[in-house]
Amino acid sequence: MKRKVIIDCDPGIDDSLALLLALNSPELEIMGITIVSGNVPAKQGAKNALKVLKLMKREDIKVYIGESLPLVRELVTAQDTHGEDGLGETNYEEADIEINYNGVDFILDSAKEGDVSIIALGPLTNLAKALEKDEASFNKLQEIVSMGGAFKSHGNCSQVAEFNYWVDPHSVKNVFDKSKVPFSMVGLDVTREIVLTPNLIELINQIGGNLGKFIVDITRFYVDFHWKQERTLGCVINDPLAVAYFIDRSLCEGFTSYLDMVVDGIAMGQTLVDVGEFYRKEHNGLVLTKVNSKKFMEMFLYRLFPDNKKDIDLVLKYYN
Ligand code: RIB
Ligand code: CA
Repeated sequence: MKRKVIIDCDPGIDDSLALLLALNSPELEIMGITIVSGNVPAKQGAKNALKVLKLMKREDIKVYIGESLPLVRELVTAQDTHGEDGLGETNYEEADIEINYNGVDFILDSAKEGDVSIIALGPLTNLAKALEKDEASFNKLQEIVSMGGAFKSHGNCSQVAEFNYWVDPHSVKNVFDKSKVPFSMVGLDVTREIVLTPNLIELINQIGGNLGKFIVDITRFYVDFHWKQERTLGCVINDPLAVAYFIDRSLCEGFTSYLDMVVDGIAMGQTLVDVGEFYRKEHNGLVLTKVNSKKFMEMFLYRLFPDNKKDIDLVLKYYN
């Protein structure tokens, strides 16, 4: 049974890998892709999403630009990590496909159908704006799976803050406080385990054809950043795990909790997970804490390169 989804994202290198996984997943009916400013300004993110759709010959899927600025904060992008163009400065040719501009309205119109979910891979600005505009319709969404936040894992924008939630903490707080939609947080506690290693990148290079070349090209900049910034050899691909988890819940374990968000000060962007039940409030989210990274990587590679499962198994033998 296909599930209807909107992918809300800020492409972004790992967002693009997540789109590739989603486009190769028969369980998903992608109703549309909404773009939010994050890694890059939304207009650039939309161009990047179109490049992925053109590569996959899926120009039938519509792209909608949403919010260009966070609710309160100034926009801070991650072009140091994803490149000025958001795709590792590969500057692939733009796709000559129409871009739509009413991302928030598209989310609300889709939500009204009652059987649509959101896989959110960027800051939650579009979701918060939709919630603010028409709470009743927004709460008809089936579920939200959001890549963002951190429970016990250290942040990537400060000691405590993960980028998506740090860029627009007010939107996260609004969604945590007001949304009635089932919410799963795919945070750094699990996504940090998902490393695309040099071995796997070289495998993709050898077996991947044009798709493989695209992945190798766009991850080069991202691998260099990871080595310089944190001495990680390879690159953490956060967003594809949110797509994979939406499809296969057995990939991860976690627990429900009351979640809150720090919106200013030194801890701005910190996700407060009330694991000790100090606030004695209703649980508003599921926090993921464990992941079977090898099972994820097999799913990711099998779906992108279904004719090369034997080669993939050979290399995955040494993964993790
Ligand atoms: O912190 C990682 C997240 O921030 C990922 O979604 C990445 O694409 C950026 O949006
Ligand atoms: Ca993202």
